[in-house]
Amino acid sequence: MCGIIGIVSNKPVTSNIIQSLKKLEYRGYDSAGIATIVNGNIDEKKCTGRVDNLEKILFKYPSAGFLGIGHVRWATHGIPSQINAHPHSSDEVSVVHNGIIENSNQLKKDLEKKGYKFKSQTDTEVITVLLTDFLKHFDLISSINKTLKKLNGSFALGILIKKHKDIVVGARRGSPLAVGYGPEENYLGSDSYALKSMTNRITYLDDGDVCILTNSKIEFYNSKNQKVNKKVLTLSNDKNTAEKGDYKDFMSKEINEQHITTKTCIKEYVDQLRQDINLYSFPIKPENIKKIILIGCGTAYHSCFMAKYWFEEMMSIPIEIDIASEFRYRKIKFDKKNLYVFVSQSGETADTFAALDLCKKNNVKTCSIVNAVESSIARHSDFVLPIHAGPEIGVASTKAFVGQMLVLYILGIKISEIRKEISKENYLKKINELKQLPDLIKLTLKCQDKIQIIAKDFLNAKGVMFLGRGFSFPIALEGALKLKELSYLHAEGYPAGEMKHGPLALIEEGLPVIILAPKDRYFEKTISNMQEVIARGGKVILITNENRNVISENVRFTLKIPNADEYLTPFLMTIPLQLLAYHVASLKNYDIDKPRNLAKSVTVE
Ligand code: AGP
Ligand code: GLU
Repeated sequence: MCGIIGIVSNKPVTSNIIQSLKKLEYRGYDSAGIATIVNGNIDEKKCTGRVDNLEKILFKYPSAGFLGIGHVRWATHGIPSQINAHPHSSDEVSVVHNGIIENSNQLKKDLEKKGYKFKSQTDTEVITVLLTDFLKHFDLISSINKTLKKLNGSFALGILIKKHKDIVVGARRGSPLAVGYGPEENYLGSDSYALKSMTNRITYLDDGDVCILTNSKIEFYNSKNQKVNKKVLTLSNDKNTAEKGDYKDFMSKEINEQHITTKTCIKEYVDQLRQDINLYSFPIKPENIKKIILIGCGTAYHSCFMAKYWFEEMMSIPIEIDIASEFRYRKIKFDKKNLYVFVSQSGETADTFAALDLCKKNNVKTCSIVNAVESSIARHSDFVLPIHAGPEIGVASTKAFVGQMLVLYILGIKISEIRKEISKENYLKKINELKQLPDLIKLTLKCQDKIQIIAKDFLNAKGVMFLGRGFSFPIALEGALKLKELSYLHAEGYPAGEMKHGPLALIEEGLPVIILAPKDRYFEKTISNMQEVIARGGKVILITNENRNVISENVRFTLKIPNADEYLTPFLMTIPLQLLAYHVASLKNYDIDKPRNLAKSVTVE
């Protein structure tokens, strides 16, 4: 969601800004823009659509500045249009912004009274106008501070100032921002991934920080306006995993490499020699945990959902799950003996971060399960468990979901072992079974050809239902979300037993219904629910690992997944659902990696 880049150099910067904006494209956006200072004046260029369009404009009308800011916008205030695209510039300053200024209407009215006119419908433009106004009366630092003080809401900002033609200013509150150190140039960026092609030396800004970049140094000021020094981190070099290779798109690569990513993750956590799980230094002794609360958004919330089902089977303590955007505003009764677990691929999701922050303010212990280990959520939690899936670029999460479930499962086994809730024998059995997971995933991925055939049935569907019970219910929810995101079809995930309480009314002749019915204690019950669907004309696609021939001949397709322990089956159930979403969208010729209206990293509320 939206991306910011800033570069100050001793050579022209536009082509590096464009390249870095392309790295931020994965977040999802609707327009792009750039501003540099050329011959002492602000030179702004912007367009709707892709960064490629911006590149074409720059090819025709080059911009030779040695410093500049760039932006990909995900509209919150005002339609995606050229005028609303960032940067927003006056004669004196140019601003790119990620976030939302909640009091922009009031600020706009006040500034209009002073005679200022606004060009765009955005909330961002008030920042440009405020700063322009303060700069008439105050020095740079005071003007910036006075501007920031006026803003309610969240922001990461990149700013150019005509009078200060050697600096780029950055500031953040709520939204993430990092700086990078290069050879005779320095960078500002929304995430380290965008900066990685230029440097692996990074510093993250803390909430309330302001930074001033020249081509030779970076200065930081904290929220109290004190000059501070900050740690420079050296990032690991995992650039290669962010390439598409021979795959048509990132999503297909990310689905098809899940046997590799799970293998890497298992290697990180499971000590093969000692037959043990390497998890130490829990923020609360597992024996003393009173309750576990798992929090996330979207797909990450579904992995929490899955963990609830697993943990309840393995432990005697209550397990709760929560959607971060709800958790952050409810009257939660915090308890120091509870463990609060945050799950996030990006580690930058604004709602999840706010929920984590709320926990910190209430002095309770937090654990995060993230893919991006340098992210804000990872840096602010007491205990970090990376999923080791490598960069996930496709907006629809696939390998990260499987990675999150895997780490949650590993965490569950370990906590249960320490709490002596599972026997040593069962613990060793679970560890040994885990080692087979990558091969089982590889085998399941072979269903691709069949899924391609099944996907054709969905082309004219009005909607789709995903039904499962027990361990298969969270997977049904995730299957429905994936299909919605990619194919824009209305899809619902339901506990199969809940159908008769209402949703059954939706079943009509030809409606595709995916039934997840592994060989478990719910099998017979799920099959009965399936019959209820068939009796009402539903077109059933059954996914199962049961070989008995109990299946009705009225099932349209039966897809077999490999046999596995019931705790590992949810991983395997996930694969055909990811592939289904992928192939339906592909048949519809939709943008697989960047579905409409969505963003990879949701850094606004
Ligand atoms: C996944 O396919 C979605 N695009 C979305 O629901 C995502 O899982 C959610 O926004 C949370 O993101 P996070 O894992 O980076 O926190
Ligand atoms: N709220 C701003 C806008 O709508 C910034 C959105 C973003 O983060 O891209 O322009």
